[in-house]
Amino acid sequence: MLFGASSLLAILIQHATYGGRHVTLLAESRGSGEVVGCCGLTFDAAPPDVVEATGAPEGCEYALLTGLAVAPSQRRRGVASALLAVAEQEARRVPSSGRRRPPALLALLVSKLNMAGRRLYERNGYEEAEDWVDARWEQDAEKGRIGKPRRLLLFRRIARATASATRTNAKPD
Ligand SMILES: CC(C)(COP(=O)(O)OP(=O)(O)OC[C@H]1O[C@@H](n2cnc3c(N)ncnc32)[C@H](O)[C@@H]1OP(=O)(O)O)[C@@H](O)C(=O)NCCC(=O)NCCS
Repeated sequence: MLFGASSLLAILIQHATYGGRHVTLLAESRGSGEVVGCCGLTFDAAPPDVVEATGAPEGCEYALLTGLAVAPSQRRRGVASALLAVAEQEARRVPSSGRRRPPALLALLVSKLNMAGRRLYERNGYEEAEDWVDARWEQDAEKGRIGKPRRLLLFRRIARATASATRTNAKPD
């Protein structure tokens, strides 16, 4: 899965760190069964900077989306949008043993320069947490270093699934 080497690394790191609280989503081509897209979803307590910038309730859980990538030959066909829809469905599921509480929001970081990603997320209902500051970028800038590009925190609140909808969508962990 060369198209997603850095995505895969991000997903593996999240998986190694969070184990049962991490879900990896793969999109397969209907015809060949080949993997054409991926992303990771990690459930954790929302960090204070995320709570503050999004106005989420203090101490809430959040779902962090990482490593979203689609094979170059398969782009602009709705694969990433489909992965985002499944990620949201997954985040809305009633938590099972591995997760503590249902997440209040879905969040992700995207490079300010990544216009394709930003457009994708905007089209899929994500909003920017305008007060969030990319501490990594700021530290580099203070030291006069040109490090990785500045990132934006994007998020969308998660509406709770109704009991019947949840049962319909429920899958074993
Ligand atoms: C960003 C990325 C995941 C989009 O995947 P995709 O499957 O092509 O996205 P979709 O087909 O679902 O696109 C949905 C909408 O997003 C926007 N979009 C997607 N790619 C875009 C591009 N290159 N330029 C402008 N808008 C784009 C469009 O509005 C698009 O709708 P449209 O095709 O009807 O105009 C893919 O380009 C990719 O893997 N990029 C490299 C990795 C990356 O940047 N990941 C995001 C990390 S935060």
